[in-house]
Amino acid sequence: MDKHDIENYKAEFIDLLKSTGREGVDDLIDMLNDGKMRFFTAPASVNHHLNSDGGLLVHSLNTCKAGLKLREMVITMKPELEDQLNRDSVIVATLLHDICKADIYKPTIKKQRGADGIWRDVDSYEVSYRNFPMGHGEKSAMLALMSGFEIYDDELLAIRWHMAAWDLPMQSIELSRCLNTARDEHPLCSLVNLADGIAANLLEWEA
Ligand SMILES: [Fe+2]
Ligand SMILES: [Fe+2]
Repeated sequence: MDKHDIENYKAEFIDLLKSTGREGVDDLIDMLNDGKMRFFTAPASVNHHLNSDGGLLVHSLNTCKAGLKLREMVITMKPELEDQLNRDSVIVATLLHDICKADIYKPTIKKQRGADGIWRDVDSYEVSYRNFPMGHGEKSAMLALMSGFEIYDDELLAIRWHMAAWDLPMQSIELSRCLNTARDEHPLCSLVNLADGIAANLLEWEA
């Protein structure tokens, strides 16, 4: 992905976020743009899918697009859920669900052995949680709040629990009750979890 692609995806991300008309969008974008966060150029992972500059941005957009399609499908099949699956909430929760990952990947150079047996320097990333080791979904929710962005309870819970039980220490009865309650009370939680899975496991699938 070149710089031009990243700029286009970044503009798409900002347009979608601004389409919600929420207060504090500019402050949130400033925070994501910050040199420490570098959200718009961060990879989505080091060794798995979208492990290059802009990967996290593309994954966030894929999750948003999957979320909006899922919303349409669910509302067609079950119209009474329309009020619970507000379009703006789907956009906010999907675009921001993984902002926690932005500051953990630091660009570095690694040695890689080619098919010809020769070792070469290649661009890569190293992982460090030192900046703000707050967890995964909870860190994304907290960063959104700290920026001053206008965000609501169901969106914070959908971000917090976007990994569902994969982010649950099974010895914690209290956390598993919180997850179940969040999903029971707010269908947005299940929708964002499914959209994330569709993005990561299907839209970003590679042979
Ligand atoms: Fe995530
Ligand atoms: Fe994700």
